[in-house]
Amino acid sequence: MIRNLLSGADLSRDQAVEILDIAEGMSDVNDREIKKLPTLRGKTVVNLFFEDSTRTRISFELAAKRLSADVINFSAKGSSVSKGESLKDTAQTLEAMGADAVVIRHSASGAANVLAHSGWINGAIVNAGDGTHEHPTQALLDAFTMRKRFHGSASTGKDLSGLRVAIVGDVLHSRVARSNLLLLNTLGAEVHFVAPPTLLPANPSNWQAKIHYSLDDVLDNEKPDVVMMLRVQAERMNASYFPSEREYSRIWGFNSDRLKRLKPNSIVMHPGPMNRGLEIDAISADSPQSTVLEQVANGVSVRMAVLYSLLSGERANDVN
Ligand code: NCD
Repeated sequence: MIRNLLSGADLSRDQAVEILDIAEGMSDVNDREIKKLPTLRGKTVVNLFFEDSTRTRISFELAAKRLSADVINFSAKGSSVSKGESLKDTAQTLEAMGADAVVIRHSASGAANVLAHSGWINGAIVNAGDGTHEHPTQALLDAFTMRKRFHGSASTGKDLSGLRVAIVGDVLHSRVARSNLLLLNTLGAEVHFVAPPTLLPANPSNWQAKIHYSLDDVLDNEKPDVVMMLRVQAERMNASYFPSEREYSRIWGFNSDRLKRLKPNSIVMHPGPMNRGLEIDAISADSPQSTVLEQVANGVSVRMAVLYSLLSGERANDVN
């Protein structure tokens, strides 16, 4: 298995399917009355969060606790980082305390890679979101959710071959879109990016995705199995990328009219937090075709599978 999880491209098809299969077993544990395994007893997992988070931080904490690891939650607010301590000094402090895994979220793209390749920490590094770059465990939990919805109880060993996935909205600022694209490519799905031209990366032809500017055209002509709505990342926007919120939701937002045009078994995903009324309306977000809460629940199982793969047994020698 791999040594760190930094990118949606770190996993081969077989490695990704293996993690999804392990997550399947973990979700059985999460359905039991006593939701706990002794697997990581004696290991220490540090959640190092320099950026705000609800779902991801709680989900990693729960995942580590359900595997019986000791968990330390570190957030930059209220720590010595607010006194100006550097990432290096923080990392070396965690190393001195014997962290076996560090789950890092940071506003700087590349922060997780720096930590993994710096030599400051020997433990496994898991990227829980670095700036606008990557968020690989979100991609894994999204893939797990798709696999469960489309293959049901016969999921084990399967990938996402043939699935048509439309990723819609603020692709430019979205680490979720980037990691999903890479993992979905590996798992055999067909990816479509749908966004205003201002919210697509500079050279979209470099991406293994079909590019569209109209959500209505994609719904009518591509008939996607999955529509993944992205949050408009207002906090990362230093300019005006679309005329107005009303205009954005009219052209690129998901709403009840568009929901009616989906195939009956197609699903609507959103990583959360949602801007209800902007990229998705309440009827779609709360409809039976929405997987928003399933994604949250699956996040715990998938993160248990990731921590288990990285921390149980011998650590692999292949550095990535
Ligand atoms: C995403 C993130 O933080 O990148 N959220 C999450 O992890 N659940 C998506 C977002 O904030 O838009």
